Order: sequence, then structure tokens, then C-alpha cells
Amino acid sequence: MKEKLEQILEVAKEEIGQSASLKNLEDLRIKYLGKKGELTSILKGMKDLTNEERPVIGKVANEVRSNIEGLLEEFKEVAKAKEMDAQLLEEEVDVTLPANRVEMGHLHPLNVVLDEIKDIFMGMGFKIAEGPEVDTVFHNFDALNSPIDHPSRSHSDTFYITDDLLLRTHTSTVQIRTMKDNKPPIKVISPGRCFRYDELDATHSPMFHQLEGLVVAENISMADLKGTLDLFMKRLFGDTTRTKFRPHYFPFTEPSAEVDITCFKCGGEGCRTCGNSGWIELLGCGMVHPKVLAECGIDPDVYSGFAFGMGLDRITMMKYEIDDIRLLFENDMRFIKQF
Ligand code: PHE
Repeated sequence: MKEKLEQILEVAKEEIGQSASLKNLEDLRIKYLGKKGELTSILKGMKDLTNEERPVIGKVANEVRSNIEGLLEEFKEVAKAKEMDAQLLEEEVDVTLPANRVEMGHLHPLNVVLDEIKDIFMGMGFKIAEGPEVDTVFHNFDALNSPIDHPSRSHSDTFYITDDLLLRTHTSTVQIRTMKDNKPPIKVISPGRCFRYDELDATHSPMFHQLEGLVVAENISMADLKGTLDLFMKRLFGDTTRTKFRPHYFPFTEPSAEVDITCFKCGGEGCRTCGNSGWIELLGCGMVHPKVLAECGIDPDVYSGFAFGMGLDRITMMKYEIDDIRLLFENDMRFIKQF
């Protein structure tokens, strides 16, 4: 029996020494020390030994067991280290490989131009005011002195949500909100989205962008309006740009005007961009109607003001020679990245 035990130890030594992996070592542990293992089955035969033999064999058996345990432990460490090395080798990262490119976003051309316009007006002391895109009939029409039968109020021109709520058709709603909430002096611009019941084509979109301006204080005159817009156009389109004010009609301004600028492409000579007229029509403006001031709680005998509104999409299209408004809203990166 003693020999058998020693033989087991010999074979175990050899097998453990050759084992290549942790899994292998675990199999060997079970083979020798497990419940049905070789050592265990020999020890089961101990009961047949004489009283003298039993302690001697018991001692040898214990030595063999602890020897095998020790060996397993020792080689487990070796196998662990080996497996770690192999894993590291497999997961090796080649830091010299080119990196995956991160796709960068790009400012939308409307925002590029809007930022430029904001900078110009902020440089003149204007603040930015904002208002909701869904607004009341009062803010969009009534308070702006819009006649009750004005065509723009019709359901075929305006998106109504209820009888009293609509998608604003212009940013002039923000004039009303600003004048109601603030005392003069007021000097704001308000850019934002507007909506009209238009068929989508190269020059029309049911959703578009305006930028409104409003100045209310004592002694504000048409000269201030002209000076402000003239300077603005020069800053945006270049120093040689000239402006022309043509009489027009808006219910909420009196007098009202439309402003043309000399074509920034040909300088007024006449070209394709300006349809050979030398001029480009750019915005609507006027002196805030006394009725509108009064409606907002501002005394028209003390204060006066001017307002203007321009189409941001149109200006952007002009500036970058974009010939289809739909390009602005398709968000194709190949288009957006050009600006
Ligand atoms: N709200 C006008 C429009 O949408 C533009 C405008 C604004 C005109 C302010 C005068 C003053 O056409």
C-alpha cells in the first residue's frame, strides 16, 4: 500500500509538472484528491489494515496528500502567470494604428448668419428677446392693430391650433410681449421660427425664420430707424452697401417702409442675383403705431419707437447664393459643411 501511495505521488508529480493550464490542474486535483480520486480510493482500503500498519500508512498517505496539494498550488501560480501573459499578448493594442475618426458636427448656415447678425446688433446695445412659437391671436394679430378682415388672419394663411391659438406667422408677437413686460427704454432683437400656410417650393417653406427688432424710448424718430438699419446693412454686407427706404404698409407701423440694399454682388450695376435691378429687397419696418404702444400700456404721447422684421432664411440664401430654401431644412451634412 505504501508503494502504491508513493507511486501515485510520482505519477502525480509528473502530470502536474506537465500540466499546461488551470483547467488541467483542476482536472488533476479531482483525479487525485477528489471524492472518487485515486488517493481517496486507496485510503478507503485502510480499514483492512492491521492496527500496526494503519498509523504508518496513514502518515504516508497524509504526506502524499499534502505533497500533491503543495504541487497543485505551486503550479497553479505558474499556470496563472502563463495564462495572463497569453491574454496580454492576445489583447495587445497597437498604439501606432491610425485612430477612428470622430465625425465633427458643423454650425448650420442659418446659425452662422444669425450669430453674425446678433453680434452686430449686440454691438449697438440690443438685447435678445424670445417668445413662444405657439401664441395667441391677440399677440399675433389683435395687439398689432391687424384689421379683423386682414387676409393673413384667414385659416388658409395661418395654422390655427384653436380659435385663439396659432403658430405665430411672424416674430412681431415678441414686440407685444416685450412691451407688455418692460418699461421703455426698450432695445431688443428677437430671432425665431415662424409658420405660414405656404406650399413648399424653392423659395417658400411653411416654416421659416424671422428676426424682429424693436426700439422704444423718448424721442425715437425715423432717423434712428434709418441710421440703425443702414449701419446694420453695411456691417453685414460691406461698407459700400447703400439702403433705400420705399413706402409700404403694415398695420402695426406708421409710417411703414420696405428696405432695399444695393446688390452686394454687382454693387448696383445689375446682375443675376438682383434680377438686373441693382437692388435687393430685404426687410419691412416702420415707426411703431401709437395704437400698438397704447395697447401695450406705453403712453404714445411720451414714447415713440421703431420696429423691423427680416427673413433670416432669405438673407442666408442671398449671402451664400443658395437657390433652394429646402436645402436649409434637409440637414444634409454635405450641404451644411460648406459654410
Ligand atoms: N412682421 C412683418 C412681416 O412679417 C415684418 C415687420 C416687422 C414689419 C416689424 C414692420 C415692423 O412681414
